[in-house]
Amino acid sequence: MNNYIEIIQPDDWHVHFREGDMLEMVTNFSSRINNRCVAMPNTLISITDTEKALTYKEQLIKASNNNFVPLIPCYLNDKLNLDNFRMGLQKKIFFGSKLYPTNATTNSKDGVTEISKIFKLLEVLEEEGSPLLIHGEKVAENIDIFDREKYFIDDELDTIRNKFPFLKIVLEHVSTSHGVRYIKENSNIGGTITPHHMLLTKKDVFLNEKFNPHHFCMPVVKNETDLIELRKAACYDNSKFFLGTDSAPHPIHEKKSDMSSKPGIFSAPCSIELYAEIFDQENAINNLEIFSSINGAKFYNFPLNEKKIKLEKTEWIVPELSSYKDIQVKNFYANEKINWKVVH
Ligand code: DOR
Ligand code: ZN
Repeated sequence: MNNYIEIIQPDDWHVHFREGDMLEMVTNFSSRINNRCVAMPNTLISITDTEKALTYKEQLIKASNNNFVPLIPCYLNDKLNLDNFRMGLQKKIFFGSKLYPTNATTNSKDGVTEISKIFKLLEVLEEEGSPLLIHGEKVAENIDIFDREKYFIDDELDTIRNKFPFLKIVLEHVSTSHGVRYIKENSNIGGTITPHHMLLTKKDVFLNEKFNPHHFCMPVVKNETDLIELRKAACYDNSKFFLGTDSAPHPIHEKKSDMSSKPGIFSAPCSIELYAEIFDQENAINNLEIFSSINGAKFYNFPLNEKKIKLEKTEWIVPELSSYKDIQVKNFYANEKINWKVVH
């Protein structure tokens, strides 16, 4: 029985750090474990130009006690300045860009209303060899919340891939077996997988008409069959899936007991441990490193990290809350037992 594993230091290819006191509170949870973190640009004032990206990067570095590399995608919309966009990509001020369909999730009201309106930007991304990170959900009145990912893939993603065949795409927080299959079957596309999409199903959010806001996220968690496919993809399948926690903190008072609640699950205090738990449950603990520390770096053409981290098989209970100044955030897996812990 192996009680320790050592893995190359991971990267988190999808995290929300927010701003202000919240940013100060959450940054260290991710930076203490990971080397690189993709810091999502859906801040209150979205990151739409190089000046905002540089300021944000400084704030993140200042808030962290550890050396870590924040990578900031540009928030896409049809009002971007094309020259600034291209310059930001060329100078690596932006780490590619992020497509949020309007109103698909938190702070996405200024996102993309229609894919065709950003074709010019996608052309620049393709020319510059910069990645397009996608929140893959199509939002429309006649589309059920559980079908949004499927509709986005079939209606929008296929259009993008056909028009820009060399564009490197990441379908973020894949949540369906349809998404897993699509990534496996196509080229130039990878996917991030969160711990919560491999631990929860819709019953954990909407059981007997009772809504649990702490398990509510976008894309919403789906069926057992989806969960199983996501676990297989992460633990066994191939090199196209990698770690992206989508850790997304909201103050506890913003978590309402109905669908008006802010979506987002705050997993940063225990994410790598949860991934270890899942891989162990799937008898694939030896594959954790490929998913957490190799596949993403290879996909994005980064060198592998030089440091290692060590996890011990030992029980601990996740604290209920993370608190700082007057902010309180409920942790994912609050008061639950995890069998793995990072030891430094
Ligand atoms: O649940 C989510 N929360 N999904 C997202 O895509 C965004 C995130 C947030 O920023 O709160
Ligand atoms: Zn996200």
